[in-house]
Amino acid sequence: MYAERVLSGMRPTGRLHLGHYHGVLRNWVKLQAEYPCLFFVADWHALTTNYDDPRLIEESVWDMLVDWLAAGVDPAQATLFIQSRVPEHAELHLLLSMMCPLGWLERVPTYKDQQEKLTDKDLSTYGFLGYPLLQSADILIYRADKVPVGEDQVPHVELTREVARRFNHLYGKEPGFEEKARDAIRKLGSKRAKLYEELRVRYTQEGDEAALEQAQALLEETQNLSLGDRERLYGYLEGGGKMILAEPDALLTEAARMPGLDGQKMSKSYGNTIFLREETDSITKKIRTMQTDPARVRRTDPGDPDKCPVWQFHLIYSDDAVRGWVQEGCRSAGIGCIECKQPVIDAVVAEQNAMRERAQPYVEDPGLLRNIIADGCERARKLAQDTMRDVRDSMGLNYG
Ligand code: TRP
Ligand code: SF4
Repeated sequence: MYAERVLSGMRPTGRLHLGHYHGVLRNWVKLQAEYPCLFFVADWHALTTNYDDPRLIEESVWDMLVDWLAAGVDPAQATLFIQSRVPEHAELHLLLSMMCPLGWLERVPTYKDQQEKLTDKDLSTYGFLGYPLLQSADILIYRADKVPVGEDQVPHVELTREVARRFNHLYGKEPGFEEKARDAIRKLGSKRAKLYEELRVRYTQEGDEAALEQAQALLEETQNLSLGDRERLYGYLEGGGKMILAEPDALLTEAARMPGLDGQKMSKSYGNTIFLREETDSITKKIRTMQTDPARVRRTDPGDPDKCPVWQFHLIYSDDAVRGWVQEGCRSAGIGCIECKQPVIDAVVAEQNAMRERAQPYVEDPGLLRNIIADGCERARKLAQDTMRDVRDSMGLNYG
């Protein structure tokens, strides 16, 4: 019904590192060639956890955008914008908040997880509870059908689907739709009517896709239905007569887990990162001093790549020939660790040199980036306004 469209956002909360590149941005670069894409700076989302330190957000917004461009995100292919410059996100969030059951938000796993993990932050706010719903608004306002996210964010896309369904159910009907639909159900005959109702409830309340398919099949094989009734019954199954907001799917990012310099997940809070656009000297030093297999104390001790974070880097940066050389040389003590690290250093340095080069024009002339973002915001805003027109219409909020 709607064109394919990808949407994703990233919070501006500090410098980006290789984890962001291999975990997120590389995937965006691939997607932008395949679909119309919208990528945005989720500055309001950053406020939900950093409202007491907005300076960090302010400082990070433009740097993060330069990092995106450095990584190969291409403004000629994808629309890049800043969430707060499209205030319609807030309007849709507000309207959705009227009909989103509190329990749906309290049940989102990140709600309790983050409160437990980020103990130094005050997360008992209205904004933090509502942040997955703000994310739903971000997605639904562009009628995006594909949302590339990490595993932890999948429940947010699920919530978005439920919210869209509920919205369509509440506001997507012709006058008297419900009654007409119920009349049509009666015409199915008591046995089929009962089954149809059961399947419909399973789908609209529990999101059971198999039930939806089964009900659709049931309608398909029912012969004595008028065209109008048939359409109503298909529409009623999906919660309403008209689809105003489209249900998105999560596009699970292939898990290219980027380990940090110490083998743990790469993360700013662990201090084990290599930043995007980092200088050659500093990259070289970080990799030279990074941990290796602890059992390999002396040069003559054989090692085990499976116990070495450097090997994880080879898995990302090296081809089969180099990997073979590492496996053989490490296990036989034929190569030293410094030698083994050199191809990784070379690859990371080359990658970051290319990124610095790509970023150079934007660093030299910040106006260039400002223009790209102004364009992107304008394009995004048009799409958002189209959706909001339908949303307001369906809710009866266009007083004319
Ligand atoms: N919540 C995401 C995060 O914290 C960022 C985000 C905000 C997002 N809105 C989105 C991602 C919409 C995908 C789609 O990382
Ligand atoms: Fe790690 Fe390479 Fe040293 Fe083996 S040779 S321990 S893989 S750095």
